[in-house]
Amino acid sequence: MPNALFRTKKIDKILYDAKTIHDDPHSGSGLKRVLSMRDLTFFGIAAIIGAGSFSSLGEACFKAGPGVVILFIICAIACSFTALCYAEFSSRIPVAGSAYTYAYASFGELFAWIIGWALIMEYSIGNIYVAFSWSDYFTSFLERIGIHIPDYLSCSYFEAKKAVLHNSVNAELINAWSSAPMIGSLKIIFDLPALIINVLITILVYIGIKESRNFSNIMVVLKLCVVVLVIAVGAYYINPDNWVPLNDAGVKSFMPNGFGGVMTAVSGVFFAYIGFDAVSVMAEESKNPQRDLPRSMILALVICTIVYILLALVLTGVLHYKQFQGVGDPLAKIFEAKNVGWMQLIVSAAAIIAMTSVLLVFQMGQPRIWMCMSRDGLLPPKFEKIHPKFQTPSFSTIVTGLLVGVPILFTDKTFVLDFTSIATLFAFVLVCGGVLLIPRKEKVHGKFNMPYFNAKFIFPMMVLAAIIILLTVNKNYFTNLFSITEENASLNISTVIFWIILIILSLFAFVKNLSLIPLLGLATCLYLLTGMTGNNWAWFSSWLAAGLIVYFSYGYKKSRLARG
Ligand code: ALA
Repeated sequence: MPNALFRTKKIDKILYDAKTIHDDPHSGSGLKRVLSMRDLTFFGIAAIIGAGSFSSLGEACFKAGPGVVILFIICAIACSFTALCYAEFSSRIPVAGSAYTYAYASFGELFAWIIGWALIMEYSIGNIYVAFSWSDYFTSFLERIGIHIPDYLSCSYFEAKKAVLHNSVNAELINAWSSAPMIGSLKIIFDLPALIINVLITILVYIGIKESRNFSNIMVVLKLCVVVLVIAVGAYYINPDNWVPLNDAGVKSFMPNGFGGVMTAVSGVFFAYIGFDAVSVMAEESKNPQRDLPRSMILALVICTIVYILLALVLTGVLHYKQFQGVGDPLAKIFEAKNVGWMQLIVSAAAIIAMTSVLLVFQMGQPRIWMCMSRDGLLPPKFEKIHPKFQTPSFSTIVTGLLVGVPILFTDKTFVLDFTSIATLFAFVLVCGGVLLIPRKEKVHGKFNMPYFNAKFIFPMMVLAAIIILLTVNKNYFTNLFSITEENASLNISTVIFWIILIILSLFAFVKNLSLIPLLGLATCLYLLTGMTGNNWAWFSSWLAAGLIVYFSYGYKKSRLARG
């Protein structure tokens, strides 16, 4: 049994299977190869810039202060190393399963399943957050042009209920609860715009990749223009004093809540970067995947990192960070505060466009991962079915639509944001770890080749240097980790585990001459995981446990690899 759980699918076999399916005109399983490098880069940007920058950035600025910029840089570093690992994998295994397929080739079936299961969080659950944020901006946009949607049709049931229970000052939520029509004793409150956009996106993804590509490209150009406009106009209103507000001790500080405060914003900031990896899901629709996937992923990430850092500087420079408490539309907020009415309207329109493109790419990503899992026998055969006319994974696309749509009725925003970030970071950790496990390859001209730097001495020395610096700054740093209170328990325990893993990795780096880039990706993603709360870990563990039950009841028995 243990061997069966860790059976790996050889890279040659994965490529052979994908090619056979693609080349067989009667298989009905081939996707259309229509995407160029520009299309893929645009898909990357389409997936990255969305609810993270237009919505969750507000709360992140409030928690971290201007120091949120540092978190953007840390996340960018973690994502860049991870993107290089995705690039390495996608140049070697250019098939649609993304991290799931990579894990199958490196860690074996059980981990591949776990990753596939965790990716549901990234793509489907992530899209619930984006759909809610889309609806926030959409209703406020309609409001600005004089159209009112009743409050009970523009928020989630649980948000409204929570607001009443906690005596919230949010008038719309309270009004939603008090004005909602009833069926029996049940109040009818749901987010109608979020549901409608989900249905429309599902239809678009169902009818074709070309249609989706053209739509996505237009949206990316529009959103980039508006983000540049926000940065340019916002820069005019910057007051540099806002970058160094007073902390509790009355001292001017870039990080008024300390570095601990900065780390509490991890979920929101990391969420803003999620999406570059979705490009790898388009492998089987890309014209030259081995060359274009890696380049487009990295290019999209670089462009978005520059945009985010500038955006964070503008936001925290225009307003005092405390003014972002509970703000769900931070980009519009800065112009509202400065009475720039025309920009508020433009920002709302752009946010709708930006989030629509995120919804589109994620809604395309999920079915393609399921398609690969189904090809391997880990999901029922219906999931790999390709529509004969539209050449898209039709059944999987509809199930994705349901998986995003139904929970819109039963969840709220904060919950899904945290869930998505922890699961995606987990997937990133396994992708970086996976690169360390696959054999090194000869450089091949015309394909992406991840540079190899021997980590034998560098990595242990970096870990040692980090320890020395921490002890110099605070000689009780490590002993403090062991004084655990209810408040710091999750942070301290995960930080202790983080340091233990780093030391083990240093030993492996030394003995096995590991490659430096994936090691750094692994270390930075693990570090970001330390910012997750105990509650996040509890939910995520339950989700994984549910996944294992599904695997042992179906995939373990039906796996094609097991059946030879
Ligand atoms: N990065 C994507 C967004 O911010 C998920 O919406």
